[in-house]
Amino acid sequence: MTNHNGQEQATPLTALQPDGFAYLNGELFVEGLSVDKIADKVPTPFYCYSAATIRNAYTLLADKLKPSGASICFAVKANSNISVLRLLSGLGSGMDIVSGGELERALTAGVSPSKIVFSGVGKTRAEIARALGVGIHQINVESAAELDVIRDVARNFGCRAPIVLRVNPDVDARTHAKISTGKKGDKFGISIESITDLYASAAEAPELDLQGLAVHIGSQLLNLSPYQAAYGRLATVVKELRSNGLAVRRLDLGGGLGISYDFGLGPDVSEYADIITESLSGLRCELTVEPGRWLVGPAGILVTEVLYLKKTGDIVTAVVDAAMNDLIRPSLYGAVHPVLPLRSSDDRSTCAYQLAGPVCETSDVFGSYGNLPPLQSGARISFGCAGAYGASMASSYNSRDLVAEVLVDVDRFRLIRRRQTIDDLLGLETSTPWQTTQPNAEAANTVGMGRI
Ligand code: LLP
Repeated sequence: MTNHNGQEQATPLTALQPDGFAYLNGELFVEGLSVDKIADKVPTPFYCYSAATIRNAYTLLADKLKPSGASICFAVKANSNISVLRLLSGLGSGMDIVSGGELERALTAGVSPSKIVFSGVGKTRAEIARALGVGIHQINVESAAELDVIRDVARNFGCRAPIVLRVNPDVDARTHAKISTGKKGDKFGISIESITDLYASAAEAPELDLQGLAVHIGSQLLNLSPYQAAYGRLATVVKELRSNGLAVRRLDLGGGLGISYDFGLGPDVSEYADIITESLSGLRCELTVEPGRWLVGPAGILVTEVLYLKKTGDIVTAVVDAAMNDLIRPSLYGAVHPVLPLRSSDDRSTCAYQLAGPVCETSDVFGSYGNLPPLQSGARISFGCAGAYGASMASSYNSRDLVAEVLVDVDRFRLIRRRQTIDDLLGLETSTPWQTTQPNAEAANTVGMGRI
């Protein structure tokens, strides 16, 4: 038996591997199930998640955070499937949301509003009203202008809005520029220079129940020193506010803990927890973290099938049936997701392929891989570490339907989102009264245009 890197592993898959995925007799298993067998029943492409991997990650992080007393609010944007939210909520997790849609998802998953934190740089009046209406635990305020709207909505409701102010600490998270959020000039948070004044005025507003501060400097942090810098600055602000006689009870520390996309070692979670304890425990605040990727990223794969092989210049391109609309991270951030074939061949030879999707964009390429087994049309492969920001970032570009999601738990699996149909897609659109119906459109209606 071999692991993802092709190394021999001593133990057969009798119990769950720590990461939930392993090869058994040349076949890729998610927990106790062969992915190929699932793919016989669920048409590719589809996302497949391992419940045990999510449970293990949550339990480990919660355990490491115990000395700091920090609680966990899962960043719903990383994977917003209701069954995944339910799984995490069942383990004790709260939720960090960034839109009214995510709020409805969390509520539908049965999460108590008293465990939901509302982040996000552009909350609408309607979203704020709904959050206050359900009795949300906390709204993280991103600007003075937003604070005014929250006050106004709370006044109309006759309630006090529970808030914290998100500070932009001007710290370089040393991550990809597109997911860095804590530098001066980034659109997020309130600048560290103006935070104390705004805090003082918010503390006086009768419509506001000002609880503390929040910070989130970016995502996919592999180096932990930016956390140290940001939390150090946060602690300084807390001390300054307190010395001005202002109460600071809660600190929301954001998410961002990175994962290794090549099954190597990621950042040390014990070290991360120690940084929190050392930087902030002395302040005696209620602490919360908002991890997304770290909890669910390694728990998911995107299963796809090779459609065609073609020679493109010096390299062979395998066109697969998944595309950038299903997993946008490679084209958006240049991310490289590991490839896990569903069956490893006895033939140990390897080939180089560019893996590309069918979308009409040159950037619809997953990457060039040097060490894949020989592929042919019909071969099934998967992209690993796709449990975070995969399905949740998918679109229907090129009128491709959103793919299905499957959750595996030990030896059973369930379709936790069915694949979108063409009728779902077209059903959102209405015709104008001034355009005449084309004969072809009528034909399409009469034959029902099922998914091809
Ligand atoms: N809290 C806040 C306020 C956030 O903005 C985010 C992520 C998180 C928590 C969770 O961060 P995480 O622990 O997942 O790194 N689409 C990008 C990632 C965007 C992250 C946006 N904010 C990607 O695929 O890499």
